[in-house]
Amino acid sequence: MSSSFTDRILFGGDYNPEQWPRKVWEEDMALMRQAGVNLATVGVFSWAMLEPTPGVYEFGWLDEVLDLLHANGIGVALATPTASTPPWMNHRWPETLPQNPDGTIRTYGSRNAYCPSSPVYREFADKISEALAARYAHHPALRMWHIGNEFGTVCHCDRCAARFRTWLQVRYGDLDGLNEAWGTAFWSQRYSEWAEVIPPRQVQYVINPTQDLDYQRFVSDLLLGGFVAERDIVRAHNPAIPVTTNFMGFFKGTDSWRWAREEDLVSVDIYPDPNDPDAARDGAMAHDLTRSLGGGKPWLLMEQSPAGAGWRHVATPKRPGLNRLWSMQAVARGADGVLHFQWRASMQGAERTHGAMVPHAGPDSRVFREVCQLGEQLARLGDVIGTRVTAEVAVLHDWDAWRAVELDHQPHSGFRYLDRMREYYTPLWRANITADFAHPEADLSTYKLVVVPNLYQVTDVAAANLVRYVERGGHLVMGPFSGVSDPDERIRLGGHPVPFRELLGLRIEEYWPLPDEPLTLESAELGDFTAATWAEWLTAEGATAVATFTSGPLSGIPAVLRNAYGEGTAWYVATLPEPAALARILASACAAAGAEPVLAGLPPRVEAIRRGDKVFLLNHEDESVEIRDL
Ligand code: GLA
Ligand code: GLA
Repeated sequence: MSSSFTDRILFGGDYNPEQWPRKVWEEDMALMRQAGVNLATVGVFSWAMLEPTPGVYEFGWLDEVLDLLHANGIGVALATPTASTPPWMNHRWPETLPQNPDGTIRTYGSRNAYCPSSPVYREFADKISEALAARYAHHPALRMWHIGNEFGTVCHCDRCAARFRTWLQVRYGDLDGLNEAWGTAFWSQRYSEWAEVIPPRQVQYVINPTQDLDYQRFVSDLLLGGFVAERDIVRAHNPAIPVTTNFMGFFKGTDSWRWAREEDLVSVDIYPDPNDPDAARDGAMAHDLTRSLGGGKPWLLMEQSPAGAGWRHVATPKRPGLNRLWSMQAVARGADGVLHFQWRASMQGAERTHGAMVPHAGPDSRVFREVCQLGEQLARLGDVIGTRVTAEVAVLHDWDAWRAVELDHQPHSGFRYLDRMREYYTPLWRANITADFAHPEADLSTYKLVVVPNLYQVTDVAAANLVRYVERGGHLVMGPFSGVSDPDERIRLGGHPVPFRELLGLRIEEYWPLPDEPLTLESAELGDFTAATWAEWLTAEGATAVATFTSGPLSGIPAVLRNAYGEGTAWYVATLPEPAALARILASACAAAGAEPVLAGLPPRVEAIRRGDKVFLLNHEDESVEIRDL
């Protein structure tokens, strides 16, 4: 059975009519109808227009906008306008402003100038959410609530410190628990009373890593509390209206596994760089993550630019056809809607150069003509609505592992978590083997292959989950520097990777980061190849060496190993192989696991996805290709 939050593919974008005189609104309606727009995101940054002075609301203009949209058959994603405070709030209550780690204040004049712990901010935010919900929760145009915008504001003030302490008390119980977890025997950091405990601020030297990590966790939870508060307010007025907020894909600041559980539908903003040859891969990754966050349910592409992204160093527009291609990619990977930032290009303000569906040139433009075409094409895809994408491969992704591996004083400061994710995802994507992302503690039993690009920090539960998965016949490929620390960022002792040593059949004595000169490796099975940046001084304890270093300080030491464990097989890759070699490793693991491409033998850079009973073929080359005999 299929189900979705919509009965037609949603198409449209952020609509900011408050930036324009009334006569432009009329033109907007005509152009939206012409383009096939059926959803407008309204009110995201309207707080100062809706509440020009404290407690005084002016909803008249928004009434008109919603009525106008409705009269034109266009639905509304109505935002709580709480991402950006009006200047009166920050001016009259300066304590609402966010504080940097060095104690300086970020002031107003941009956006997102609020401290998430500020009771003044919270009270005004709740009140305007309440007023909006009371007025519009049953408006016939309303399709969904859009809470705030791209949550991610971090503050280090004293109020946040107090909230942090409460969060820590819940996590650790008492101060002994905190001292133990944070390892405060180190550098004389032992706390004698709770009042001493503060956020990571400007310090003389390296900050306590667990303090840093816990603050990142806390901030995500604190922001989530703001989302939940507003969600509950709007939901109370009409539980039938779904609630979402726009995620930013692989954004480190919010643990979207935890957030997605609180949403009725998951939505995402993505801005792949048209100049980046791997941009389509990045899009696919963000789509797959968004789908996975929602447990496979249809999701919504809330924002993309139809042309260029004004904030980029080189804001090259999307070439003709590219916005359609990337929009189709989102639908293929499970989206039931494609929206843009924004409808009409702003004439003024910080984002006056950002691309839009109606560009500065007006409707007589390439961009608008392509928008109209896209609207037409999406309207014809109605029968994919609610259908699912199924994946035989899971790529594990965990925000804590990401945060932890990028803390200070890791063996290689250039070791970036997302680089590992991309390196392992890319060959799967190129081979048209569809992957979900999964949390390390998730049920993995439906997957033929589990890929773990990097899982530096791991909970006992997650470790046992992976071991059990392989024991019961699963296939697993694990990348380097995994299984190192526990959730308190305590290194697990006795030879790495402690929780996976038996699973992988090996023991690591030392991690061996290196400068980026290539090392050579030999492998009868994979062919010889090179690797760089990272090696590990390890001994096989049951695993078979598949590739071995033939140069550098670790010459003779295995770098790729395979171990039969229980009913299954586990690979370990203790270095960063050149892309072609990593592709061979993953191809071999996929073949052994029986994980099949959607279609085999397609030309390079032709992407294939199966959604429901349809196969989407997307050509990422400029030249057209001919495909026969599928
Ligand atoms: C210095 C300090 C030590 C230690 C080492 C290693 O020598 O005196 O406490 O921090 O550096 O970083
Ligand atoms: C984000 C925001 C939008 C806009 C766009 C373009 O996605 O949510 O308000 O700023 O970026 O920069």
